[in-house]
Amino acid sequence: MQVDIVVLAAGKGTRMRSQLPKVLHPIAGTPMLQHIVNTVAELSPLATHVVIGHGAEKVRESVLGEHLSWVVQAEQLGTGHAVMQALPNLRGDIALVVLGDTPLLKASSLKALLDSVNTQSYGLLTVESADPTGLGRIVRDANGNVQKIVEHKDATPEQLAITETNTGIMAIPRQLLEKCLPMLSSNNAQGEYYLTDLIELAIAEGLQIVSAKAGSEMEVQGVNNRVQLATLEREYQRQQAEAAMTAGASLADPQRFDVRGSLSVGNDVFIDINAVFHGECVLGDNVSIGPNCTFYNVVIGDGAEILANTVVEDARIDARATVGPFARIRPGTHLGEGSKVGNFVETKKTLLGKGSKINHLSYVGDAEVGDGVNIGAGTITCNYDGVNKHKTVMGGGVFIGSNSTLVAPIDIAAGAFVAAGSTVTNNVSDNQLAVGRARQRNIDGWNKPTKKDK
Ligand code: UD1
Ligand code: CA
Repeated sequence: MQVDIVVLAAGKGTRMRSQLPKVLHPIAGTPMLQHIVNTVAELSPLATHVVIGHGAEKVRESVLGEHLSWVVQAEQLGTGHAVMQALPNLRGDIALVVLGDTPLLKASSLKALLDSVNTQSYGLLTVESADPTGLGRIVRDANGNVQKIVEHKDATPEQLAITETNTGIMAIPRQLLEKCLPMLSSNNAQGEYYLTDLIELAIAEGLQIVSAKAGSEMEVQGVNNRVQLATLEREYQRQQAEAAMTAGASLADPQRFDVRGSLSVGNDVFIDINAVFHGECVLGDNVSIGPNCTFYNVVIGDGAEILANTVVEDARIDARATVGPFARIRPGTHLGEGSKVGNFVETKKTLLGKGSKINHLSYVGDAEVGDGVNIGAGTITCNYDGVNKHKTVMGGGVFIGSNSTLVAPIDIAAGAFVAAGSTVTNNVSDNQLAVGRARQRNIDGWNKPTKKDK
């Protein structure tokens, strides 16, 4: 059975009160529609047809995927009308219709639905709703067979009491769509072409209506306003926290932990409160993360310790290194095994060798630092001449005294020593001492300034 996906994403989302099209509002930093596109990709469909309308250009630019095809629905005349716009592009046996605003949807529920249908049946994904207000009700006969779906606004008081609702997700044979979509009418409370009216037409065509239950209510919960957006964000993060704990991380507080990308953790990891992980983050065994740390694409080795209020971006931190508190590790940094970067240190495009230390108040950028190097407090690599960036190279065992200015390009060879307060502009050879500062003079008989009469 070949499957086309049809994602309905043309609606305005008036209740979001936003310039941004509703389906671009993010969950965990990623547009809702992107979550859906990623999820349906797990089913390896022939193609994913996304029906767009409001903010079409912006939506198209913001979402990426394989075999994506964009269909513009100029006027939003209802869910049936939306599917109709995609119909000429469909090639598979079955169209799986999903909504663009249910970001927590799981591929497992879609697979269960697809497994229950063939080209002679019509599949519905339904859910038991604690509060079915606004949702389409699943109307069944005495034998439990689905008869139709009634929209909230069109329902009788009896039908309103039904708690089994339409998730909006359906698996529909393409042949039925071709025959019956043109037969839909907009003679209803909202004056729309309802996709849900297709059920009765399918029954008349002799198709069997089958249904599968969604894994949970949250999974198919739609977002209509920012309150629901926040509820789903928290649910998404609850799931991320649970996954991290299951994989071996202890979290000081699962409710103050956010993954906006992917996080993989080893055993016996500890993560204190307010950690935020962006992009792809990988933590080895026994990694410890202090409070209020932010990470973007990092690989952190076994036993490394990240102390409070540290920001790490596009960097690699090897085993047993210590970073922070208050460190900023910028892109292209690689901190070697057992190295130390302390408070108010910024690094960028820097390789710090094994066991090397930058303990306090320094900027080290575009640098290659050997093993066992000690960089004193207040050291600055002057890597930028206003036009180009230049490199600073330090051999193993180098010692840089406090408050030194290293004017790149510069090469400080193994074992060399730079005296505190030096401005170093010439290369230093093996084991040399560089002193680049004015010699101290002590002046005898110095007269202290006195206060002038006014
Ligand atoms: C729809 C279902 C309802 C179901 C509910 C689940 C219909 C008639 N009703 O109702 O049974 O319980 O979803 O959330 O199908 N859209 C378009 N073009 C349109 C209209 C809608 O692309 O012309 C898109 C919207 O952007 C949205 C989705 O379709 O992503 C659902 O539309 P919406 O108006 O929210 O439908 P509901 O009234 O919630
Ligand atoms: Ca609606």
